Amino acid sequence: MTRLWPAPGHPAILRTSGVRLAALGAAVAAMGAVIVFVVIYYGTLGSLRQTLDASITNEIGEILPQGTATPAAEAAGAINAALAEKPFRIFYALSGPNGAALAGNLRLPLPAPGWHTLDTPAGGAFAQGVMELRVLVVRLRDGASLLVGVDGTMIRRLNDLIRRSFLIGFGLTLSLGLAAGIGFGRKALARVNAVSLASREIMAGDLSRRIPLAGSGDEFDRLAETVNAMLDRMQHLMENLAAVGNEIAHDLRSPLARLRETLELALRDPEPAATGTAIAEAIAQVDGALALCGAVLRLAQIETGARRASFSNIDLTDLLNRLVETYETVAEEAGHRLIAQVTPRLAIRGDAQLLNQMFANLIENAMTHAGGPARIGLVARAEATRVTVRLTDDGPGIAPDHRGAALRRFGRLDPARHRPGYGLGLPLSAAIAELHDAVFTLDDATQGANRPGLTVTLVFPASNAPRPG
Ligand SMILES: Nc1ncnc2c1ncn2[C@@H]1O[C@H](COP(=O)(O)OP(=O)(O)OP(=O)(O)O)[C@@H](O)[C@H]1O
Ligand SMILES: [Mg+2]
Repeated sequence: MTRLWPAPGHPAILRTSGVRLAALGAAVAAMGAVIVFVVIYYGTLGSLRQTLDASITNEIGEILPQGTATPAAEAAGAINAALAEKPFRIFYALSGPNGAALAGNLRLPLPAPGWHTLDTPAGGAFAQGVMELRVLVVRLRDGASLLVGVDGTMIRRLNDLIRRSFLIGFGLTLSLGLAAGIGFGRKALARVNAVSLASREIMAGDLSRRIPLAGSGDEFDRLAETVNAMLDRMQHLMENLAAVGNEIAHDLRSPLARLRETLELALRDPEPAATGTAIAEAIAQVDGALALCGAVLRLAQIETGARRASFSNIDLTDLLNRLVETYETVAEEAGHRLIAQVTPRLAIRGDAQLLNQMFANLIENAMTHAGGPARIGLVARAEATRVTVRLTDDGPGIAPDHRGAALRRFGRLDPARHRPGYGLGLPLSAAIAELHDAVFTLDDATQGANRPGLTVTLVFPASNAPRPG
């Protein structure tokens, strides 16, 4: 579709929606002014003219008691009588069939029978201050013509006044509307330009740049706030991405170096048995590296929040009971005790697979990092509109200063360095908790103890769905 106004070449201000809206508003207001003008013009002048016409008809009735059958001489008498007594200005002219004036206070050639509005005669006014006459001309049966008229100057003045007022009002409405539009348009344009400028700088690589706020809290400010929040999130993700790349490269170095060493040793040792062992070892090392890559990818996927789309109502009681069942035997074989207290019919919204993985990570951490046989407690219960799950162990715990590091990707604390693991379990669990809008906290299990143990607390919003059961 071709745009007629403003043409693409017009200044940017004319293409702003503010100016367009103002032009539309001004046009509507101008149309309103025209309607008001028409109503006032025809209403006022029409009714004024009707009043004048009625007084003329009335007067003719008095001059011609028998209508057009009234003889001219009787009409002349009535005119003279009226002129003698009527205090207000009525104009009469009676002329015979030959055009000779018979009576009246007006001397002029009579127009054809009917209604007329007579303009000021060339020589000046009809009478003192009378610039316009409204007249009715009647032809009598005897051939004479009678004109009765009244002063119509007021109509003309009013006519002029209304037209002038309309023109001024119309012009003012249009120009004020347009001026306001241009003003608003300029302001809007300045804000949009600021957004474009900031966006261009961001595109050029300055990811820390943000859109300036005017501070008025208007829709532009709200839009800028939303876009800025989006930019914050994007910057965070970009930084994370860069960090993950570094961390993966860093963490893959040692398994790859070990793999290389294994293969090199195997190459030097011609014994078939040694070769078999070396290959098995190499496969284990490759599996480890693959597991690392898988965990990092999963973490990245969870952080995008895309898995929320597949959330369903979860029977958390059932999920935890099954998990405890799975881990009980393994824990006992390693000398741990796993004690669970799970309230029946706990319901939350979530992703069962991710929740399973999170609780499994936490139980495995307790078994791995407690440093010897541990007592592991799992308590889950509903509290008002929340569901709380607490996992406790009686190992060395994590000192408050080290909790940040333990929650970071690849963050492993000193005593754990010689144990297998990548330092991804806790950050993965924290990301899964965040995905579920759950609050994830690490605390000492026993305050002030030598081995305080670790309590991981998860507070989920309870599902609104009816509890399973
Ligand atoms: N229950 C715990 N008690 C004491 N320290 C813990 C406990 N859980 C985690 N930690 C510490 O926090 C670090 C990070 O834990 P995380 O689960 O992220 O990694 P990991 O267990 O070492 O390896 P991965 O889970 O990737 O196999 C651990 O290396 C350990 O030092
Ligand atoms: Mg772990």
